[in-house]
Amino acid sequence: MKINNTSIGKKNESEIVTLYGWVNKKRDLGGLVFIDLRDRSGLIQLVVSPDSEVYEVASTLKNEYVIKVTGKVVLRKEANKNLKTGDIEIEVQELDVLNKSAELPFDLNNTTALEDTRLKYRYLDLRREELKNNLFIKHQIMQSTRSYLNSLDFMEIETPILCKSTPEGARDYLVPSRVNKGSFYALPQSPQLFKQILMMSGMERYYQIARCFRDEDLRADRQPEFTQIDMEMSFVNEEDVMSMTEGLLYNIFKDVKGIEIKLPIDRMTYDEAINLYGSDKPDLRFENPIYDITDNFKESDFSLFNNIINEGGIINALVFNVADKYSRKDIDKLTEYVKTYGAKALAFLKYNGEFSGSISKFVTPEIGDSLVKTLNLKDNDLVLIIAGDKKMVKTSLGALRCKVARDLDLIDKDKYAFTWVTDFPMFEYSEEEGRFISCHHPFTQPQDVDTLSDKEHALARAYDIVLNGYEVGGGSLRIHSPEMQEKVLNELGFSKEEAEAKFGFLLKALSYGCPPHGGLALGLERLTMILCGTENIRDVIAFPKTTSASCLMTDAPSEVTEKQLEELHIKLK
Ligand code: AMO
Repeated sequence: MKINNTSIGKKNESEIVTLYGWVNKKRDLGGLVFIDLRDRSGLIQLVVSPDSEVYEVASTLKNEYVIKVTGKVVLRKEANKNLKTGDIEIEVQELDVLNKSAELPFDLNNTTALEDTRLKYRYLDLRREELKNNLFIKHQIMQSTRSYLNSLDFMEIETPILCKSTPEGARDYLVPSRVNKGSFYALPQSPQLFKQILMMSGMERYYQIARCFRDEDLRADRQPEFTQIDMEMSFVNEEDVMSMTEGLLYNIFKDVKGIEIKLPIDRMTYDEAINLYGSDKPDLRFENPIYDITDNFKESDFSLFNNIINEGGIINALVFNVADKYSRKDIDKLTEYVKTYGAKALAFLKYNGEFSGSISKFVTPEIGDSLVKTLNLKDNDLVLIIAGDKKMVKTSLGALRCKVARDLDLIDKDKYAFTWVTDFPMFEYSEEEGRFISCHHPFTQPQDVDTLSDKEHALARAYDIVLNGYEVGGGSLRIHSPEMQEKVLNELGFSKEEAEAKFGFLLKALSYGCPPHGGLALGLERLTMILCGTENIRDVIAFPKTTSASCLMTDAPSEVTEKQLEELHIKLK
């Protein structure tokens, strides 16, 4: 059986060992050939002297050749502190080339290659330390998850990949059925309905490290195919699900990073998150909340602000103590940035005992005093102001808050800032669909069933777990009565017939003694990204898709043959 390179050390001095691996690098130095041999565990140095029988073979080695060597462990004159095996090297006595490697498309030790090239040759890219470590961390998170949930009596249960298409938010990936002409399966956006039905089947505590598929626009933290740590429990309330999740996160951070996170995790309501941070997934690694200064300008002569206030709009501000660092030009750049979020303009004030800046002429002594109080102003403060309708103002300032913090390097990269966000709205208006849709999903319990028809204000028993500005998980208590479920589907615009056609199986199952239940799913990749310190979700997936949802290594998706289409009863337009 092969042994790991990094298991060899000082303790093995003078022993003869046999090692396998790849030539990471070869150097010819004054007659001696040095080879860094790499295996999954790491590097070890091999030395071949000119009088060795294998010197000739060693001289012909190239990067990424696969070799087997036998040799003697000797102490190095000068240890290499950067290597785990830096105290020793192997004096090679036998060397077999097990396989050659073609010329590499990029240097594995110094990648400046474009990501597309790296994705095309993913098998080579994965040989690099960084990606290998990321996959290892993901593996550790999965192991830690299993061990914690098993200890709490959860059962790991698989659910189908070929499912029924049910509207859950994103677009479905569809799979045509050969046997059932004209019918399609959908790939699961999540195992939501199956895990609820497992509660109805009496499983009480379920989990699954579940593959999910969503045909949606991709972003740096989104893939069409991703994994959830999916959980569901019976006879629980919000507190039970939240404390179980906190325990899971505590264990993951301890097992993977050796860090003990502070419990219980702080909470804020959805309204607080939006008002203070302009986002339902606030990055709390830095402060700088959003201030409401609408009242401060109520008596001003500034007609633009007055008009906005009269139309029910708001005036909000951010404060950063960097007035000296921002020129007009810098502010213009920030203005361009907020315009992408719908803001028409970005006003600013600088404070140094007195006010200067784009709207300073409207700052009377009274308004100035009130601003100093509301914003707690100190010398050198820069105040960035947006006025308009609430949604736009909050979204723009929320994004600007993060951009300025990034630009100013205010974010402590070693910090893990968790928060729960609770009291989510039950519904949100979808411009695309021209109707209200579920904010979480249609199976979430409302806080008060009697206020359901007030769609803008109805609240849900839903919660998200947020870490460093990422939504790493979300869940809710579910509806467990068929009447309430019908009522919610009705509010969402499903007629009785439509509800029956799409969710008949669920409504029926609910009618046979369904326990109260709830759960949550963590996004495994997002959690892994944060623990690996990367902002690119592709860095934590062995074989990821590009932003246009293709796999550059295998060339999926690709055309299929006429015969295949015919069997599936499909004609291409
Ligand atoms: P939700 O849709 O909030 O909830 O998803 C749960 C978590 O999954 C992660 N996630 C993603 N990660 C990568 N790429 C994506 N495209 C993607 N979409 C979601 C996020 C998110 O918080 N069934 C419910 C959970 C429940 O109610 O128990 C669900 O799927 O981290």
